[in-house]
Amino acid sequence: MLRAKITATGSYTPERILSNQDIEKIIDTSDAWITERTGIKERRIAYESQITSDLAYEASLIALKERNIDPLEIDLIIVATVSGDMPFPSTACILQKLLKAKNAVAFDINAACSGFIYAMSIANSFIKTHSFKKVLIVGVEVLSKFLDWSDRTTCILFGDGAGAAILEPSESESGILSTHIYSDGSLWDLIYLPGGGAKHPTSHQTVDNRLHYIKMKGNETFKVAVKTLENLVVETLKVNNLEPAQISLLIPHQANLRIIIATAKRLGIPMNKVFVNIDKYGNTSAASIPIALDEALKQGKIKKDDYILLEAFGAGLTWASALIRW
Ligand code: COA
Repeated sequence: MLRAKITATGSYTPERILSNQDIEKIIDTSDAWITERTGIKERRIAYESQITSDLAYEASLIALKERNIDPLEIDLIIVATVSGDMPFPSTACILQKLLKAKNAVAFDINAACSGFIYAMSIANSFIKTHSFKKVLIVGVEVLSKFLDWSDRTTCILFGDGAGAAILEPSESESGILSTHIYSDGSLWDLIYLPGGGAKHPTSHQTVDNRLHYIKMKGNETFKVAVKTLENLVVETLKVNNLEPAQISLLIPHQANLRIIIATAKRLGIPMNKVFVNIDKYGNTSAASIPIALDEALKQGKIKKDDYILLEAFGAGLTWASALIRW
């Protein structure tokens, strides 16, 4: 059966580190509170001059080099982001220019933290229908530029980064076995950025009212996320006729260590089979899964024929999972 297979990955995070101790100096919070409630110890913050496409470019170059592919061979670029360079054109088109990948079709998708798995799902469908053969998918965010650094309930959570993967057709047993993507727009106001769109076009008033920053109802989001992800991972295994013990590695979206632990517990997967790097990067939204996947691979945590389960939950609301046989 034809399916898509990940043939290379790359990731990039800005060098600038912002620790919990650094944030203690900006707002009323503490390393102890952030660590206990989220598992985050530090996050990466882009320099003023660094923009979303720059991070996407760095991660993409690593993946392309690993596979030894000329950018001209790429026929589709999908960038998952909610913090693109500008409202339009797409960050994917800007990345296409940076890579000189002039034979590619390029577009963005907006599914927040679930974006990378959404992109993987779209790429998988295109590959299965023979529409594209060498697809670059990227999850990238510079959420630091959209954070209200006077709001302790959000600014401690997020970080910047990018992760990329190359997907190609596979006739073998290995590749993406299934993807599962969902949305519930009725809960859009749990996490959103109100300003600068058609609803609240930029004005002095929108700026004065701090509408250009991320707003989140953290505690409500937490509860919905835990319940939704528990059901999602159970369903993903059921569809693939797999038992939890057959999963070699769970790679969850890194939003909150307590959510990750709850999901693993629901599946009965021990934490040594769960990839966690939230302590280093915080929540990098669409970049979180591909950064984690790239790190897991480069740390030798994934071997041929392993079953890998990816899952994410984010603004929209959106949620998504993927089951991969490596
Ligand atoms: N430092 C210190 N205290 C803080 C704080 C901070 N950075 N942020 C909030 N608090 C306080 C609150 O003001 C509140 O105080 P109060 O009880 O006096 O009112 C208290 O801590 C508890 O707040 P609450 O929001 O209930 O905490 P929580 O346990 O839900 O943790 C989050 C907050 C944001 C860490 C957590 O809700 C979360 O991770 N939510 C999900 C995020 C997510 O998954 N997003 C989806 C993907 S983007």
